[in-house]
Amino acid sequence: MPAMANAAPHVAILTGGGDCPGLNAVIRAVTLALMRECPGARITGVERGFHGLVARRVRPLAEADVAGILAEGGTILGTHNRCDPFAWEGADRSAAAMAFVRELGIDALVAIGGDGTMQIAGRFETLGLSVVGVPKTIDNDLPATDRCFGFDSAVAVVAESLDRLATTARSHGRVMILETMGRHAGWIALEGGLAGGADAILIPELPFSLQALAARAQERERAGSSLLVCIAEGVALDGAEPVRQAHEAAAPAADPSAQPRLGGVGQVLQQRLQPLVGCEVRSTLLGHVQRGGTPTAYDRVLATRYGVHAAELVAARRFGRMVALQNEHVTSVPLAEVAGRSRPVPPDHELLRAARGTGVLLG
Ligand code: F6P
Repeated sequence: MPAMANAAPHVAILTGGGDCPGLNAVIRAVTLALMRECPGARITGVERGFHGLVARRVRPLAEADVAGILAEGGTILGTHNRCDPFAWEGADRSAAAMAFVRELGIDALVAIGGDGTMQIAGRFETLGLSVVGVPKTIDNDLPATDRCFGFDSAVAVVAESLDRLATTARSHGRVMILETMGRHAGWIALEGGLAGGADAILIPELPFSLQALAARAQERERAGSSLLVCIAEGVALDGAEPVRQAHEAAAPAADPSAQPRLGGVGQVLQQRLQPLVGCEVRSTLLGHVQRGGTPTAYDRVLATRYGVHAAELVAARRFGRMVALQNEHVTSVPLAEVAGRSRPVPPDHELLRAARGTGVLLG
């Protein structure tokens, strides 16, 4: 990649949206690669995502700051999944954020985040900030990339949880329901469910039938065995709205455009299924365990590849782009292709074929 016209650019890095394993690996890779691509570059970490630009909270990043963080979960910069500077606490703070960016002399921003972060980054770009995006979300639902880092780590947690639930389900002859995250996409439940040997996988993209699930549970009951169900939080049991967390209504977000928090469908399913079967039905909500902890080896490597490519894009002054993985190759796509869009599981996806092929009940 050609060196940057401005040989020593000032580059800001931020992590936005929900955290996930691998964020620190990206921060480390961007920092280390920028130092090599653009000798003398200044690197500034923005704290708590875009909130840091509103609250004026930044810190310098140097090689010593990123030493030893490759395998560390979370993000050393902190994050925020409810701060859109264009609509924050009832006001548009984007002009103030841009003034702060200019004061600092920032030449470019590397924004690591999901669809919301890419959307906000795209809007800052129209205000004159040069941006490179890096796709992060355990939900794996960003378009134009085959994989977001963090997803593999979440899937590993789901698989291990199902392994553990399977033994206790068998011992008691129970139906065990595991609810995963994933927002409106079923990727985590589908891949995690396959990896953990779930008997039924329920995702928002497919129609749900309580009768079919009850029939499968009764079959297992007659055979004296158990049933393992993996359900994504975004499943709408009645074809209506997904179940929202109860406390959402009590504490509305400062950013009214923030996504509603989902959660609790596993328990609702338990209540509906229980009267239809003879055995006990229990449910487990996995929650943030899926987002915490150390990234898998796959995610560490993917995050490193993404970070290095992001630094290369900055050095080549190829802005307005998001790093992406396509057919195993790291490349980049225009931010506009991604911002505000999501990628549900397609009905003909190969993973669904693999599930059907092994007798998994899909819904
Ligand atoms: O987008 C990532 C994600 O973990 C979703 O799967 C989940 O619905 C949401 O974030 C949870 O957000 P919060 O941490 O705000 O509860």
